[in-house]
Amino acid sequence: MELMERPRVAVVTGGANGLGRASALRLAEDGRAIAIWDRDAAAAKRTMAELNRRDAKAMAVEVDVASPESLEAALITTRDFLGPVDILVNAAAIIGVDASVLETPLDEWDRVLAVNLTGTYLASRLVVGEMAERGWGRIVNFTSGARHGTPALIPYAVSKAGVVPITRAFAREFTSRGVLVNAVLPGRALTNMVVSRVPEEIVRNPPVAIGRYADPEEVAEVVAFLTSERNTYMSGGVVPVDGGG
Ligand SMILES: NC(=O)c1ccc[n+]([C@@H]2O[C@H](COP(=O)([O-])OP(=O)(O)OC[C@H]3O[C@@H](n4cnc5c(N)ncnc54)[C@H](O)[C@@H]3O)[C@@H](O)[C@H]2O)c1
Repeated sequence: MELMERPRVAVVTGGANGLGRASALRLAEDGRAIAIWDRDAAAAKRTMAELNRRDAKAMAVEVDVASPESLEAALITTRDFLGPVDILVNAAAIIGVDASVLETPLDEWDRVLAVNLTGTYLASRLVVGEMAERGWGRIVNFTSGARHGTPALIPYAVSKAGVVPITRAFAREFTSRGVLVNAVLPGRALTNMVVSRVPEEIVRNPPVAIGRYADPEEVAEVVAFLTSERNTYMSGGVVPVDGGG
């Protein structure tokens, strides 16, 4: 009897909505089994239902990526249901409230960094060891053009800048053991995070070289490549998917 190889298991944090959701749907097309780790339980279930409709094996786990305990519990549930994690996509993030440097509340600073920066680090740290033991793994983080500093969103900018050295540090330590770690840098896509913040005029005239916003699927396509077996030499990189900036 021939042994069936198990599908590779992909965890997508923030996979309930937006770019994470598009990544989850795209990875499922490559035959991955998908675990959506998101704090928005209702949307995570809807994404899971969509994955199931497309015949993908999928589960939704309510997770707060800022909490090590919540992440550890999610990993146990995921392993029990799908098996060990081979791929991690760290898309979960919040943008925070608009405020000038002096008016940014300290608890807002802490909250944004806890989710976007510490969350990316914690989730990666949780799964990378096992990937390395098995000699194969892929991690994709999400940075942003905001990493160079953006008015009124200083915690978000700092968090997205910090994702770059996290990506490089994990790549440096784990690439030789088969775990390739990269970041994508999406241009603007009109997801929940962005849509309410963009004035009507900017929606009509996107300030992007290509002349339009990104479709989430365009970002997901790059995530799919970076997490695939076809990616054999890219690690530690930041890959812009920004329509020319
Ligand atoms: N949309 C853009 O234009 C854009 C541009 C550059 C970078 N990004 C990055 O892309 C990624 C996806 O963003 P998006 O635009 O799809 O946003 P989104 O708001 O649509 O999705 C973010 C997801 O993260 C989840 N989330 C938030 N806090 C969480 C927590 N503590 N624990 C678990 N899940 C949590 C939300 O519930 C949501 O499902 C983010 O890292 C964002 O910084 C987006």
